[in-house]
Amino acid sequence: MKNLWTSIEWFPHKHANEVMIKADPNGIFVAEDTDSEDFANIGAYCVRPEYRGHGIGQSLWNTGMAHMGDRNIGLFAISDKMLAIYRDKHNFKHIANRQLVLMRGSFVPNKGLIDRIDGISLAVISEDNILDVIQYDRHVNEVSGFCFLLNTTSNATMIEPLYADNEQIAELLVNKCCQQLPQNRTQNVNYECWDTNNSAQEIGNKLGLIELKREKNAFTKKVMIGNMDKMFGLSSSLFFAS
Ligand SMILES: CC(C)(COP(=O)(O)OP(=O)(O)OC[C@H]1O[C@@H](n2cnc3c(N)ncnc32)[C@H](O)[C@@H]1OP(=O)(O)O)[C@@H](O)C(=O)NCCC(=O)NCCS
Repeated sequence: MKNLWTSIEWFPHKHANEVMIKADPNGIFVAEDTDSEDFANIGAYCVRPEYRGHGIGQSLWNTGMAHMGDRNIGLFAISDKMLAIYRDKHNFKHIANRQLVLMRGSFVPNKGLIDRIDGISLAVISEDNILDVIQYDRHVNEVSGFCFLLNTTSNATMIEPLYADNEQIAELLVNKCCQQLPQNRTQNVNYECWDTNNSAQEIGNKLGLIELKREKNAFTKKVMIGNMDKMFGLSSSLFFAS
């Protein structure tokens, strides 16, 4: 509400919302845009091996699906067997014409990787510029790209996400980030990209990673489409830029 007021240059006192809610909790009304895409993503669907085969998985699934209700639900199927379950038992009709390629390997510094581009400077993401990065995620604005290297509980490194305006910037970003890795985090580097983005796969190859497997993408209502050319490394079907 505060953002809306600011946009029409109306500046109420700082705690107006809190005061109004306290005065009459049921007396505030909002209009909701129900045409907007309402998207949910299923991920990390897993049961410990010793507990499998007792209905726990399906019970978790049913609870999750009930929570997500009527939204367009997206997922990655780890195998053809799971894809058949999602398609035949759970109405996931729309199988996207693309797969997620999972790549893994050791990062070996490679002189063939782009190390600088005239006119492009790299900055470490901090509290000062994080809003610009978020803005990029929404509208692809001034930031030319960003790359995160995450550490997993098994001390593996995940390159996710890696977004950039073009493949050269993506390569520069990921190369520079990987060069910063301490030695003990260069052995098990993981990267996931769309099979429809050849340059993204090429970057994985140049980093020294090899393809492990592919996962199919499915949806209940309609296939989510974004600007795949700018997505290099991603981690879930939630990562869609428009
Ligand atoms: C998939 C998984 C969560 C199922 O858990 P579970 O507790 O064993 O599931 P249930 O006991 O409820 O059901 C088991 C059976 O139903 C199938 N099944 C699993 N999830 C299902 C679902 N959501 N709806 C219908 N059937 C399902 C299983 O394939 C299995 O069939 P099988 O005996 O022919 O192999 C579990 O096997 C697992 O953690 N696998 C590894 C991770 C994984 O592959 N996750 C899916 C990512 S796409």
